Amino acid sequence: MAALAVLRGALLVGFSVFLTLVLGFGLPSVLNLFARSCGFPEASVTECIVLVYALFVLYVAVPRLPRGTVKVDGKAVLITGCDSGFGHALAKHLHKLGFTVFAGCLSKDGEGAKVLENLHSEKLKVVQLDVCNEEQVSQAVEFVKANLEDPEKGLWAIVNNAGISTFGEVEFTTMETYKQVAEVNLWGMISVTKAFLPFIRRAKGRVVNLASMYGRMGNALRSPYCVSKYGVEAFSDCLRYEMKTWGVKVSVIEPGNFIVATGILTRDIVTSTAEKLWKEAPPGVQEDYGKAHFDQHMALMRSYCNSGQREIEPVLDDITDAITSKRPYTRYNPMEPHWWIRVQVMTHLPGAISDLLYF
Ligand SMILES: NC(=O)c1ccc[n+]([C@@H]2O[C@H](COP(=O)([O-])OP(=O)(O)OC[C@H]3O[C@@H](n4cnc5c(N)ncnc54)[C@H](OP(=O)(O)O)[C@@H]3O)[C@@H](O)[C@H]2O)c1
Repeated sequence: MAALAVLRGALLVGFSVFLTLVLGFGLPSVLNLFARSCGFPEASVTECIVLVYALFVLYVAVPRLPRGTVKVDGKAVLITGCDSGFGHALAKHLHKLGFTVFAGCLSKDGEGAKVLENLHSEKLKVVQLDVCNEEQVSQAVEFVKANLEDPEKGLWAIVNNAGISTFGEVEFTTMETYKQVAEVNLWGMISVTKAFLPFIRRAKGRVVNLASMYGRMGNALRSPYCVSKYGVEAFSDCLRYEMKTWGVKVSVIEPGNFIVATGILTRDIVTSTAEKLWKEAPPGVQEDYGKAHFDQHMALMRSYCNSGQREIEPVLDDITDAITSKRPYTRYNPMEPHWWIRVQVMTHLPGAISDLLYF
């Protein structure tokens, strides 16, 4: 493992040096040649390179430009998965900002729902909402309709936050698991969006979908989760194109690793998932992969339980921006710099290079 990390580090450094040399010497020479053949003086090429580089640095370093905010007064938002994690914190946060919040909870009798109900606010309403249960989705629509200040003005935003996560190599993962994860993360999200879209269209409002950095890049052991989150990205893109004519803005939030801050992956979950994965694996797979290899991967997953960003403010800020900014972004990437670089490498460089660097 240590040797692998050293090799990866060496590859990264080597690649950075290679890029620096190409950008520093190769690119100017090629541009100079091109400029000369077009009859321009050489000096203008150097200035162009400096300008492009300065713009890139500005793009990366400068904080978000103010784009104006909408009035919060009289606006209502529905959030799914408010029992815990991002959803729970977001319900409180948006309520504090003055929104009327419909907090969808998987269990209305659960701890998280009780905490929200104990705020005893007219502007924070807990709604029983299992996103996989069509009847509950319909009942939630009726509830929201009945409790909107002015149903004619519609609902300002929905935040599709409810989600589950799991892990395991492809050959250890049952079809049932693939379907269960997609049922919540993808089909549930689509079902809730479709049910509430008429209200959102009326308000010319917002749809905000929680994807993940794993909606942009794959990883070993994460196929059930990645498949569902790639689906969230695809659905959001298609919806965004369709909703343009209605004045509805669709944004995707792609958080990096916030495992330690939310309840999405705990040591208990890893232990029970590991037991299930091994028990359900076909005997041939158990034999071929071997217990030692399996245990090593499970230990790796266990180590992730204490990893990631501890503060969830970046995620809350991005969701809030998607809901309140006059010009929300299409994609938000609340993640640590090393994950951001990895997403850029995986999405912009040829697979042969990104595979070499990360796998
Ligand atoms: N934490 C991260 O590192 C991270 C990174 C990228 C993306 N995300 C995404 O962010 C979203 C929120 O996750 P989180 O980290 O806040 O995890 P979390 O604390 O586990 O929150 C997920 C919430 O969804 C609820 N839920 C599960 N199944 C549901 C269903 N069928 N219907 C309605 N609600 C359901 C859960 O209820 P129970 O508590 O009762 O199970 C929980 O309240 C998810 O979509 C996740 O994929 C998280």
